[in-house]
Amino acid sequence: MSKPAHCRIFSVANQKGGVGKTTTAVNLGTALAAVGKRVLLIDLDAQGNASTGLGVFAEDREFTSYHVLIGEIPLAEAIVPTSVKGMDLCPASEDLSGADLDLADVSRRAHRLADALAAGEVPVQDRYDYILMDCPPSLSIVTINSMVASTGVIVPLQCEFYALEGLSQLIKTVRRVKSTLNPTLEIQGVVLTMYDSRNNLSAQVADDVRAHLGKIVYETKIPRNVRISEAPSHGKPALLYDHSCAGSQAYIHLASELLRREQDALAA
Ligand SMILES: Nc1ncnc2c1ncn2[C@@H]1O[C@H](COP(=O)(O)OP(=O)(O)OP(=O)(O)O)[C@@H](O)[C@H]1O
Ligand SMILES: [Mg+2]
Repeated sequence: MSKPAHCRIFSVANQKGGVGKTTTAVNLGTALAAVGKRVLLIDLDAQGNASTGLGVFAEDREFTSYHVLIGEIPLAEAIVPTSVKGMDLCPASEDLSGADLDLADVSRRAHRLADALAAGEVPVQDRYDYILMDCPPSLSIVTINSMVASTGVIVPLQCEFYALEGLSQLIKTVRRVKSTLNPTLEIQGVVLTMYDSRNNLSAQVADDVRAHLGKIVYETKIPRNVRISEAPSHGKPALLYDHSCAGSQAYIHLASELLRREQDALAA
């Protein structure tokens, strides 16, 4: 099923845990909404951190991405508004941790999400400019579903010693999905997260990653910033919690870099 030209769908993925996937999905989404884009965030992680971080708590989640994946309800019915103007959410639930088993024998098991996005008279993918999917820390069937449904993958990479470890596995998976299930899939970019300018190691890792991966690494680095880690406990993106902090400003830069990259790609 082809995706409409205007809607861009990105998986925020890295099978490594705690590298800033959820923080990136929530704050990049907020920054895109702030410049007038219609944004949907789909929480695909059983931990539900993106949902909680947007103030949608477990007890308030009636239908979730799990119910969509197993085909119990159409995606549109799981979508709720958030406190961010212009950004909606499809929340996640703990059931997602069993999705691998639940989807073991179903048809089009890797296309469940792509099909859900394209289904109906007015498909969900036609109602948004950007759809961001917060993936779990694994290369499970849920992450594969996300990649099959996506136009691109955004990879957060934490500036720490083992940053590149496991990345080849992720890149291999993207290539495999591209060659078999979704020929238009690309890595949109790699974003360096939790960058600490007082720490030489951060600078070294950043240089190393750029040397290895070249232009796909965004210029924007997300600094380690305590306001970013405080925001989720207030049920808000950092951009609403403290708009002027260095972390929020970095996500605003990242959004403009992403938009610029897309314009350049169109012009090329
Ligand atoms: N730039 C930052 N500065 C400070 N803390 C950060 C920053 N980015 C993320 N964090 C914190 O680091 C932790 C991990 O971030 P996050 O939840 O976004 O990672 P993740 O890749 O989604 O994790 P998981 O793999 O468990 O889903 C969180 O507590 C988050 O608040
Ligand atoms: Mg997460």
